[in-house]
Amino acid sequence: MQQSAQTRPQHAVTHDAMQSFSNATDPRLAEVMGLLVKHLHAFVAESNLTKAEWLKGLEFLTEAAKITSDERNEFSLFSDIMGISSMVDVVSQPPGGTSSSVLGPFHNHDSHTQPNGCDLTQGQPGDRVWLHGRVLDIHQKPIPNAEIDFWQNADNGLYPAQDPAQDPQNLRCKISCDPNGSFSLLTIRPHPYTVPTDGPVGALLAHSNRSIWRPSHFHIIVSAPGYVGLVTELFPSGSDYIDNDTVFGVRPGLIVDIKPCHDEQVAQRYGLTTPVNEVNFDFCLVKKN
Ligand SMILES: [Fe+2]
Repeated sequence: MQQSAQTRPQHAVTHDAMQSFSNATDPRLAEVMGLLVKHLHAFVAESNLTKAEWLKGLEFLTEAAKITSDERNEFSLFSDIMGISSMVDVVSQPPGGTSSSVLGPFHNHDSHTQPNGCDLTQGQPGDRVWLHGRVLDIHQKPIPNAEIDFWQNADNGLYPAQDPAQDPQNLRCKISCDPNGSFSLLTIRPHPYTVPTDGPVGALLAHSNRSIWRPSHFHIIVSAPGYVGLVTELFPSGSDYIDNDTVFGVRPGLIVDIKPCHDEQVAQRYGLTTPVNEVNFDFCLVKKN
């Protein structure tokens, strides 16, 4: 006599559910879905998940779907605060290069290309910071004509997508590095900010007595033909929340000092007086296989 699903051993249910994906056309889909089933089933068994808790989980996902739009993705935020986004960064990182970090929700593919050395500050409030460096390969050789894609928040802690008073292109740009792999730009000191709290993820953070803050950071994507692209962030040392980033994006190698620069030529170029706040950071890219 065939056993009902309720009376079958747990491992048989897990086995059957894993097997149900084994005929996927894409073998990687079969592998990933099989492992996902295996670990989700183990979570249900180990936590003795109740029906009420399972329903609460479904309710959470339903609420996340309701609040998700083209401008706002609650599932992406959930991935971030669970540390999943950071785990994907860590396990997919090729060895030898600069550490990657989370992309975050405010990247804009349409950032305008600006001249190398550009001034992004345009009279707005904020401590001026001269950010510069080079793009190198793992042998410390410059990669000519690499591209930098840069964005950050304004002095009020907001990104243009959150603040209609800002130009959509404020404090963001793309820059082509020079033949020596060098880049520079003038920006402002970024500020800590909170992740969105008006959805189910915000409620979860509140119920969990968790911080909603991210430390201050510059966002940077570095790319060059023939090299693995790098999505990363630079975190000024001493920022609030640097030891308690709610999306787990901080890596030791990405913490930078904002130092005083006494180069008169740099100060003159931007109409500043010395010392100028300076961040000097070299990015290292790994060749594609
Ligand atoms: Fe950010």
